[in-house]
Amino acid sequence: MTSKNMPLLWYRKHRIKGLDVWRLLSLVPITLFGVVVFLVLYHSKNEKINGLSVSDLLSTHSVDNIGNFSYSQFSSYKSNLPKQNDLSIMLDSLNQLPPINMDLYPKLVYGHIVIVLYVHNRPQYLKVVVDSLSRVEGISETLLIVSHDGYFDEMNKIIQSIRFCQVKQIFAPLSPHLFSNSFPGVSPSDCKDQDDPTKKRCQGTKDQYGNHRSPKIVSLKHHWWWMMNTVWDGLKETYHHSGHILFIEEDHFIFPNAYRNLQLLAQLEPAKCPHCYALNLAPSGVKSRGEGWESLIAERMGNVGYAFNRTVWRKIHHKANEFCSFDDYNWDITMWATVYPSFGAPVYTLRGPRSSAIHFGKCGLHQGHEDKAACVVDSLVNIDIEDLDRVKNINANWGVHTLENQPGYKAGFKGWGGWGDIRDRNLCRKFANMYGY
Ligand SMILES: *[C@@H]1O[C@H](CO)[C@@H](O)[C@H](O)[C@H]1NC(C)=O
Ligand SMILES: *[C@@H]1O[C@H](CO)[C@@H](O)[C@H](O)[C@H]1NC(C)=O
Repeated sequence: MTSKNMPLLWYRKHRIKGLDVWRLLSLVPITLFGVVVFLVLYHSKNEKINGLSVSDLLSTHSVDNIGNFSYSQFSSYKSNLPKQNDLSIMLDSLNQLPPINMDLYPKLVYGHIVIVLYVHNRPQYLKVVVDSLSRVEGISETLLIVSHDGYFDEMNKIIQSIRFCQVKQIFAPLSPHLFSNSFPGVSPSDCKDQDDPTKKRCQGTKDQYGNHRSPKIVSLKHHWWWMMNTVWDGLKETYHHSGHILFIEEDHFIFPNAYRNLQLLAQLEPAKCPHCYALNLAPSGVKSRGEGWESLIAERMGNVGYAFNRTVWRKIHHKANEFCSFDDYNWDITMWATVYPSFGAPVYTLRGPRSSAIHFGKCGLHQGHEDKAACVVDSLVNIDIEDLDRVKNINANWGVHTLENQPGYKAGFKGWGGWGDIRDRNLCRKFANMYGY
């Protein structure tokens, strides 16, 4: 689905059902979000409502009463970034909306751990993840931020239907998925595959293996980096958050005890593992469900359910140039091979001896749409939650077992490529500067 035909489809589908929609709207409290999406998608089809432009609509309906936190910071960075299209501008505006469900959960509980769920377009997975989150003990105490790479109606609907906690949606406004004929998407002048830029008179810089950029592939690392910068430094909801933030993906099943375990780990970390940088819900080995020992475990950073605080974020952000220049399109391998090693000492994370999260996805993040059949996962229903996984299963009196010299990507690895284009590297660096840090 391209950004061009998305609003069209949406419009057609909803027009036919217009009466239902309006009946629904009169019953359900209208979220500002819905109104803005509706109005702006109208606009994207070059429709004007009573002669109003999109900016008129936005300023009267939403953004004004939210304050200008991000907007004041955006103005200088925007001039440096690639030109935005209508959809991108609309999504930027949606990012300013307050969380939904504030009526149900008006206050976040003191000491809460914010949860960030980052997603692309695998609705069949997302449903499972959201359902697992709905069973997490303590979830109603916190804020769930969902960061979207691209705008997809089905994904959006799943998130909008959540009622178990405050939810804030953000959309990467410069996702390659939003641009069908210009950077950060593919532009007509781009080199392809292994083209020679001077001979072909095309634009692009090859990676270390001689290949030109692929927007679908680079979008992953761009999204992760944009999201990190935004949730730590660019949202008024989290700008002052002093505790941990937990990061999970659209194919991570979360156990009911995950949040309480994490809170306990956060409490224990300073005394039990002062050399740890982070907390994890799952072992770094993706196949492992934990050792089952009566002990906490410190090991290398994992990429399933990891949490850290602002001090650690500042250290990561400080290495923006390393992150953005490393020729690998995977954010996690980039972190292991460049950012963590630059901290000077081994980077450990603390976790319990039993997994509180499972990576269940069987296909790549960006194949979801094209290869639906390949991604249907019938093992989904088979994730067995034992009684031990329903309640907090970490003991505050346990010691810490440190796993040393584990195998895996480390300093010296050259990278898998896919991140050679100067434009991607520059965009990445601009994301690091967009909130004035
Ligand atoms: C908007 O930002 C400006 C400059 O940072 C500030 O002076 C002003 O009070 C802000 N307005 C609102 C409504 O927050
Ligand atoms: C954040 O975590 C790091 C690493 O665990 C720790 O050294 C630091 O004191 C923490 N910062 C705050 C403000 O709690």
